Amino acid sequence: MINKINALLKEVENLKAANAEELEALRIKYLSKKGEISLLMNDFRNIAADQKREVGQHLNKLKEATQNKINELKANFENVQTADDDIDLTRTAYPIELGTRHPLSLVKKEICDIFGRLGFSIAEGPEIEDDWHVFSSLNFAEDHPARDMQDTFFIQHNPDVLLRTHTSSVQTRVMENQEPPIRIICPGRVYRNEAISYRAHCFFHQVEALYVDKNVSFADLKQALLFFAKEMFSADTKIRLRPSYFPFTEPSAEMDISCNICGGKGCPFCKGTGWVEILGCGMVDPNVLENCGIDSKVYSGYALGMGIERITNLKYQVKDLRMFSENDVRFLRQFESAN
Ligand code: DAH
Repeated sequence: MINKINALLKEVENLKAANAEELEALRIKYLSKKGEISLLMNDFRNIAADQKREVGQHLNKLKEATQNKINELKANFENVQTADDDIDLTRTAYPIELGTRHPLSLVKKEICDIFGRLGFSIAEGPEIEDDWHVFSSLNFAEDHPARDMQDTFFIQHNPDVLLRTHTSSVQTRVMENQEPPIRIICPGRVYRNEAISYRAHCFFHQVEALYVDKNVSFADLKQALLFFAKEMFSADTKIRLRPSYFPFTEPSAEMDISCNICGGKGCPFCKGTGWVEILGCGMVDPNVLENCGIDSKVYSGYALGMGIERITNLKYQVKDLRMFSENDVRFLRQFESAN
């Protein structure tokens, strides 16, 4: 057996490999589980006890020499490769493709940043909700149409497990757990059972803002809204509030901004009116405060909610809502330079 080992040792010392494949073949031939050296290791078991020591030493030497040889060959042609004349050191750096932020993420971040400057902090809540947080606590009447299966996705026909239809549910979650003053901004995905088209989708995104403290007034709301509109669009943006109705606010309003595409002159986007609607808002209904354990005689608050897709459309004029969820890189790459 010692002869066999010595013969192999000689063989190994003279090994050559021209490329990585050849080297890998050698490694397999000698060092793999079924390679020459493993076979010798198997034979080693049958060797007489008094010879084990000597043969073992030879075997170890062979194993080490083979490993060294393979490493040496590898280093050889790794060096050859880096010294290769074909490498052009004047070439520009390898183009590293950077990912881009999704337009909805860009706009969400911008909205949160603007409210952040007014002292609002981010709050989040679950997308799978219960009736209390999405509807009942927010003063929705038992027979309110938004509770209908037509609008809301219920899970497994259990009317108490549903996908939230708006981020207003986070208002309740925070008010239940926090004492005023509360000043939060809640971005998130919402779901509605809508047929998918260029102007509606079964999921979309909203941002909700809530401010509850002593002496919060409608004037505070208006000031925050004006600040938001100017920061988000441009310093000369005008706002207009129209009376509206939401179960969870009283009084309620919808806010329009002067159309940022035509500057208020009238265009197809604003249907010639010079105004576009961007959000709903109002003073938190005292019932809602009480539902969450907040004394409505001591505290008041305002709330507002807007669709991120809507704001993104206004900023970037994306005409088809479906583009936001198709993951078409030709669309997404256009936002590369934004932020
Ligand atoms: N939750 C409303 C919706 O989904 C949006 C909204 C309107 C939120 C008025 C508010 C609000 O906080 O005050 O359409």
